[in-house]
Amino acid sequence: MTRQRPTWWAEDPFNRTLALAAGASSVRGLQTAFFVPRILAGAQALNMLQSAVAGIAAAARVLIITDQVVRPLAERVAAALRPAGHTVEILDGVLPEVPVEVVEQGAAVAQQFAPQLIMAVGGGSAIDAAKIIWVRYEKPDFDFRQINILEPLGLRKKALLVAIPTTAGTGSEATGAAVLTEGGQKMSTTHPELVPDFAVLDPAFTAGMPPQLTAYTGLDALSHATGAFLSHWANEFTDPLALQAIDLVFQYLPRAVADGADMEARTKMQLAACLAGIAFANAACGPDHALGHSLGKVFGVHHGAAVGLFTPYAMGYVARVSDKYLKLADWLGIEPGPARERLAALCRRYLDFTRAVGAPTTIGELGITRPDFEARLPELVELALTDGVSLLSRRPATAENYRRLYQYAYDGLLVDF
Ligand SMILES: [Fe+2]
Repeated sequence: MTRQRPTWWAEDPFNRTLALAAGASSVRGLQTAFFVPRILAGAQALNMLQSAVAGIAAAARVLIITDQVVRPLAERVAAALRPAGHTVEILDGVLPEVPVEVVEQGAAVAQQFAPQLIMAVGGGSAIDAAKIIWVRYEKPDFDFRQINILEPLGLRKKALLVAIPTTAGTGSEATGAAVLTEGGQKMSTTHPELVPDFAVLDPAFTAGMPPQLTAYTGLDALSHATGAFLSHWANEFTDPLALQAIDLVFQYLPRAVADGADMEARTKMQLAACLAGIAFANAACGPDHALGHSLGKVFGVHHGAAVGLFTPYAMGYVARVSDKYLKLADWLGIEPGPARERLAALCRRYLDFTRAVGAPTTIGELGITRPDFEARLPELVELALTDGVSLLSRRPATAENYRRLYQYAYDGLLVDF
């Protein structure tokens, strides 16, 4: 594959080696860090945000970053802030998958407007865009592609970051991760300083999501929580959050999909997404995210649908090197029995659940013909292997294993290797 874009941090061989080495248990035992935003949740969240903003500046300059679809929600935030004397500007140019050009345009607006608060209102794309626009605003001479988890960024000299999600799934409001598109490829970066200062979780902001988007974004949250729990990067802080998120998704996602006006289900799903976000931001997500990113890029599959599809297969893959899945089986009430049978039952529980919320469980179901799939398989494998998430996999990622995982997922076979 020829690359027509600058190099990102995860492509640097030194950084790749370092990331793999940092995952060793001997290194992880030396330190645990846990980053989390201040969380304002519930129907009064916007009122709580007004108090928080007043505590930052009497008359703050607030730049809201959003897209045209959810701009009305951004207007609602602006209308809540302006009467208190804050100056609010809305930038609604965010596009899905966030091309780097959008970041550059947003950074130019930020430089001119000089906000003290940057607020993202939207799904993962708006929040991811806001993070990198914020970096460009704070450090105009710094190349965001070189954001390196091991080096301080030095943000918060000019502004703080607030995230107000309008979907329940990406968890971006609680993570330091951002995914952008450059040269036709999805590139991701992460840094603890990019964790927003505030996450504002008002369930009313997610009420407009149609059933399919509700299902797909909910499965993204399930993938984050499951991957975090099974990851070797998990710790005592992340495990309970991951399990709670898994519980909430199993309980409330079917309700939120069946009836978008079910505000109890919306509320619980928003909390689940945030909990899962905190869990994977402080642990890691699983290889399902590498496999899903690649499938999304090659065949244009929605992120949540793609990673949700791979979650049971990735679970089976990682189970070969760790028996932590047995704790998850206990948590979900899988019957006692031989470990391999419990693993199969656990994978089937996830497959049944994914099917029940109307999402695909095999690549074949996506309408991708076998010849098309076989023809693009080498590209799928290569993209997944170079994905930064693969560096964090509990079971090492290899081309041969990834190829088999794709093939098993095409046919819907339980992983047995
Ligand atoms: Fe995700």
